[in-house]
Amino acid sequence: MTSTSSPTPTTTDRLTIATADDMFALGQRIGAELLPGDFIGLTGDLGAGKSVLVRGICAGCGIDPCEVMSPTFVIVVSHRGRLAIHHADFYRLGDMDELYATGFDDLVNDGRAAILVEWIDRIPEALPPEYLRVHIDGCGEAPREVFVERVGPRFEGRLALQNPQ
Ligand SMILES: Nc1ncnc2c1ncn2[C@@H]1O[C@H](COP(=O)(O)OP(=O)(O)OP(=O)(O)O)[C@@H](O)[C@H]1O
Ligand SMILES: [Mg+2]
Repeated sequence: MTSTSSPTPTTTDRLTIATADDMFALGQRIGAELLPGDFIGLTGDLGAGKSVLVRGICAGCGIDPCEVMSPTFVIVVSHRGRLAIHHADFYRLGDMDELYATGFDDLVNDGRAAILVEWIDRIPEALPPEYLRVHIDGCGEAPREVFVERVGPRFEGRLALQNPQ
């Protein structure tokens, strides 16, 4: 039997980000282009820079980055700028059932906000069919390698990201 669905297009950019300021600036570039319904899953070890990037993304959407804290204990925090953003952190979540209990699914299905999830690899089943995955390699004061993977036609031709000059 042949499948009628076409393969999901995927492209990945690899960037070198030397400082936290550059990571924030990368986030601002992503945030400036973010659309309602976009889903970004972030991965990387403790202290990799996921929250720095999220703060930059929010700033790029016109949200005061000082109001963007880590939602590790409350799971999801909502912000409003040029568009609404729901910022989630799955670090302390056990499984999909626990995630359902937070009402996260309703926020995703609503489609009017962009969704940013730190530690998406804890519950990869929560990924929608189309998403941007940002993986950050490195910690401490070392430069970070950042892998930006676009999955699905929604991200095709968008978010052309380059290394800082
Ligand atoms: N190139 C860099 N990119 C990002 N952060 C950097 C860089 N160099 C140093 N840092 C520092 O690393 C730390 C990253 O912390 P951050 O809270 O963003 O990590 P995280 O990935 O969200 O961790 P957690 O999983 O604990 O939430 C910050 O203190 C930041 O100043
Ligand atoms: Mg964090």
